Formats: sequence, structure tokens, C-alpha cells
Amino acid sequence: MAIHARQLHPLFAAELTGVDTSQPTPELRADIERMIDQHGVCVLPGQNINAQQQVDFARLFGALERPPQVRGSRGARDAKFPPEIFPITNLTEDGQIQTEDNAARAYRLANALWHTDSTFRQTGATYSMLHARVVPPHGADTQFVDTRAAYDRLPDTMKSRLEGLEAVHSIWESRGKLGGYTPTPEELVARPPARHPLVKVNPNTGRRSLLIASHVSHIIGWPEAEGRALIDELMELATRPEMIFSHQWRVGDMVIWDNRSTMHRATPFEDGVYVRDLTRVTVREFAA
Ligand code: OGA
Ligand code: MN
Repeated sequence: MAIHARQLHPLFAAELTGVDTSQPTPELRADIERMIDQHGVCVLPGQNINAQQQVDFARLFGALERPPQVRGSRGARDAKFPPEIFPITNLTEDGQIQTEDNAARAYRLANALWHTDSTFRQTGATYSMLHARVVPPHGADTQFVDTRAAYDRLPDTMKSRLEGLEAVHSIWESRGKLGGYTPTPEELVARPPARHPLVKVNPNTGRRSLLIASHVSHIIGWPEAEGRALIDELMELATRPEMIFSHQWRVGDMVIWDNRSTMHRATPFEDGVYVRDLTRVTVREFAA
């Protein structure tokens, strides 16, 4: 069946129909990669797959990340998942809704800040694939912006100012912004910062994008406050309301985004009342 794409936002994002992720083939990989290169975010509705099938599909695109140990999130419940699954959930290991003092909840809440997955790892990430199992009746959209469109809109003077700059990214920077999750000394050592260029070039398309967002702590060689001001300015430009595509989840949706072309964030819902249970897999950009 041929894939059909319907554009979801004037700048980027498309819904793809005619895709069956339970049948991973090299042809499907090529088709999806072409769609992602073009649209940045692709929504694939009606994917009735289990966690192992999600992993098998994602493996078409490269080596997969493994999630870190987060206090309060890895336990009996996750033992049923393959090790490449990141549970994006408000359930505890025994299937109860997380309470406000749950460490995994505090860790997850930082997803509400604009971010790009895994920029805090030196190995980076190409695609993230998030699959919805249970969704709340309202709220909890995931929002996206296109960081290629954001780059394209910069004045030439800004583009040349950014050339060659590198930023430091750390998971503890984004977690520190909201408080609530304090890393242990072992966690600090286990997850050191990474450095990446501020302007990223996608090798498939040659297009440039901004690599910024909540994990960035500073710009290498710049005074901290000056770096922060530049990042804040770029973030403001990249996340203006007209740049945002908001995805409202349905059970069975799989959303694939290219972390080299987009930023995203979670939005609130009544997470003490309703269950929201999704699973993510993440494709590494570079070998470990
Ligand atoms: C993620 C993420 C946002 C959401 O899974 O990487 O940021 O809405 N999710 O759950
Ligand atoms: Mn994310």
C-alpha cells in the first residue's frame, strides 16, 4: 500500500497513512526516512503493535539507546519491556498512578521544557518514536517546532555569528531548571555533559538547524550570562506560537520525530487522576 502524507502545519509535520510498522522492511525504512527528512515530524495513526514490535521497527534505522536508571521508574513493571524501551508514563512499577513525591515523576516533568532528546549524550539521537498505549481524555498534547525553519528565518548577521559555536548540554541542566529531581553523586558521574555545534547540518538533506533547548548550560568560550542570553533569544524565535505544531494523542498513534530537525515539549494534564502511558524508542546518531 502506498504511503499517503497529509501536511499538519504550514511549516512541517505530516500524518502518514498506509504504513504498517509491524512489517519492518528496508523499503519501509527508505520511505519513512524520506518522509521524516521532508516533514521533521510524522504521525502514524493506528499502529497496533507491542513493545517488541516497536523496537524491531526502530532497529531498521540504527542502534537504539537504552534508558538510564531513574529512581522510582525502573522495576517490576518495566521488566516486561525490552531494555530499549523508555516508558513515558505516570504509572509506577506496580501500575499505580505516581504520587507527587515520586522521583520518576519529578524527572519526567522536565519534558515540559522545550528540548531535543539525548543532546546531553555525546552520541546524540536521530529519531525518537513515541507510541501511545493509554491517553488521558484531555490535555497532554506533545508540541513540536521545526528548528530548520527557525534557522532559515534568522537574519544573515545572526547566521554568521552562530557559525562555529559549540554548546554544552547536560541532563542535569534541564532537571535543575524545575527542581524536584536531585541527582545522586553516582548519577552525576554516570551522565557527564556533552558538547555539540549550535548549528547542525543534516547529512541526508544538507539543511541546517538550531541545536539549542533546555539541556544547554553554556556556550563554549563565552561568559555564561552572554551565552544564556543568546540561547534565550534563539529559543524565543524558534518557539513563537506560529511555529508550533501540537499533537493531540489517540491510542495507537506512533509519532516519529527527527531530533536533528525539531524540538518538542510535553504539555500538562491531570496526572494524579488519569493514566497516560506511552513507550519511546530512540535511535542513536553516533556509535557509543
Ligand atoms: C519524549 C517526550 C513528551 C510527551 O518522550 O521524549 O519528551 O508529551 N515526550 O510525553
Ligand atoms: Mn523528549
